[in-house]
Amino acid sequence: MTDIVLGTTTSKIAVTLNLEELLATRLLVQGNSGSGKSHLLRRLIEQSAPYVQQVIIDPEGDYVQLADRYGHVVIAAQDYSAKGMEEIGARVRQHRYSAVLNLEHMQDIDGQMRQAAAFLRGLFEVEREHWHSVLVFVDEAQIFAPAGTEGSDESRKAVLAAMVNLMCRGRKRGLCGIIATQRLAKLAKNVAAECANFLMGRTLLDIDMGRASDLLGMERKKAEIFRDLTPGRFIGLGSAIARRPIEISIGSVETAGRGGTPTLVPPPPMPEGSVDEILFAAPQPTVIVERRPPPPPAPPMELVADLIEAAELAAPPPPLTVPEPTGDKPSFDDVIARVAADPGSRFMSASDLYQGFLQACRLVSLNGRTYDQATFRRKLAQARVGMLPMPEGDDDWRQAVAASDQFQDEDRAVFLLLAKAARQREACPPDSLLALVLGSQSSRRGRAILSHIETRGAVAVREDLSGRRIVGFPSLGWETEPGDPNL
Ligand SMILES: Nc1ncnc2c1ncn2[C@@H]1O[C@H](COP(=O)(O)OP(=O)(O)OP(=O)(O)O)[C@@H](O)[C@H]1O
Ligand SMILES: [Mg+2]
Repeated sequence: MTDIVLGTTTSKIAVTLNLEELLATRLLVQGNSGSGKSHLLRRLIEQSAPYVQQVIIDPEGDYVQLADRYGHVVIAAQDYSAKGMEEIGARVRQHRYSAVLNLEHMQDIDGQMRQAAAFLRGLFEVEREHWHSVLVFVDEAQIFAPAGTEGSDESRKAVLAAMVNLMCRGRKRGLCGIIATQRLAKLAKNVAAECANFLMGRTLLDIDMGRASDLLGMERKKAEIFRDLTPGRFIGLGSAIARRPIEISIGSVETAGRGGTPTLVPPPPMPEGSVDEILFAAPQPTVIVERRPPPPPAPPMELVADLIEAAELAAPPPPLTVPEPTGDKPSFDDVIARVAADPGSRFMSASDLYQGFLQACRLVSLNGRTYDQATFRRKLAQARVGMLPMPEGDDDWRQAVAASDQFQDEDRAVFLLLAKAARQREACPPDSLLALVLGSQSSRRGRAILSHIETRGAVAVREDLSGRRIVGFPSLGWETEPGDPNL
């Protein structure tokens, strides 16, 4: 049996808390602001750190110092997408890191709710083999299990569901919720009701006092003692603390089983490998892209500037300008490149552009067998990503063009744009750029074309933990760097 010392009674007798019993019965800490709840949680965390894995949901960044003294990993919630957050939650359990989820830099309560919900889901939804015991401390629990209607419906429902799972269904999975709140009346009743241990600090509002006496099964009059508590003093009650209410002066701070009775399992020694690789690396792609050594640099992507300029000039499109006749006779490819470079061409139909191309060829006296419309369209897609004429001896790019032959116009242009970024190890272009290469200003359209290409198996799309997109080309062995799809 593992007891930790919480503090002392008024007659200086040590009061202990039994950790095994706590795992099965959870704990609620309540007290007005300044009553010493966070100090109390810190005392619990510090004292229990050698015995059991710990996770702290920290809305104020109060617990980040635990990292230096006790080795907790601090997770900066604002750096990750909700999906990334869920994945990190799962990895924290799989690798049994003690961790602090720091939510202080989330912009609003809604964001705090969303990220905490995702993280808790990750902790909860792991395979049975990872159901080791872990204490989950939630400070300011009224944010994450509100009785009222704070935040958006979607975030509130998600975080409430995650908290109910933690408190009601967590025990079998080894999760033990320890929640602290300033305002019992603002905490969802079903979450508070799951706790069988209580530490009540100074409470002034009648409504909170009423809830506290209900929860503890105390007469209302007796609950009046909560009013007179000084900071750092709590009334403790519950199977892991004491069978009868006991006043405790909280001590100082320094900075598994399946079903049945949960047992304490201390976290193992730190796993080999760096925490960055284990917790924070992008998930492995489902389609393995074997990265080849980087190819020689190709021409820079001037396209981006061109495209943005094109978008600005979009309405109404200027008439297509055709090349002036010059001394040097251009090739058919040169003419297509000029046509593609014309800002007005972005928003014209392919058949109009073909007519423009034929006219331009006549103007520069390019005779002989010209391209048919299908070849023209194929070359146009290439030109639109700035790869026509094809650089001499560029076999890599030739392969990419050959791979793009499975697609028609629009799909081909997006495929080539992404392939170019991948080949040059550049960030994955955002949806808005995918759209622009199609002559569209709808990001949704850009994204739809990418999804279509993906369903054909030509590319493998994944996200890193921040929600940035990575597009891999399994047949070419190339992969883009992560890029924000929403820029
Ligand atoms: N047992 C204690 N011994 C010494 N100092 C304490 C004790 N409990 C609380 N304090 C001090 O009292 C102050 C308020 O405590 P704490 O921050 O824990 O309050 P809180 O209940 O978490 O308030 P809030 O709800 O505003 O976060 C802190 O400076 C803390 O160091
Ligand atoms: Mg606090």
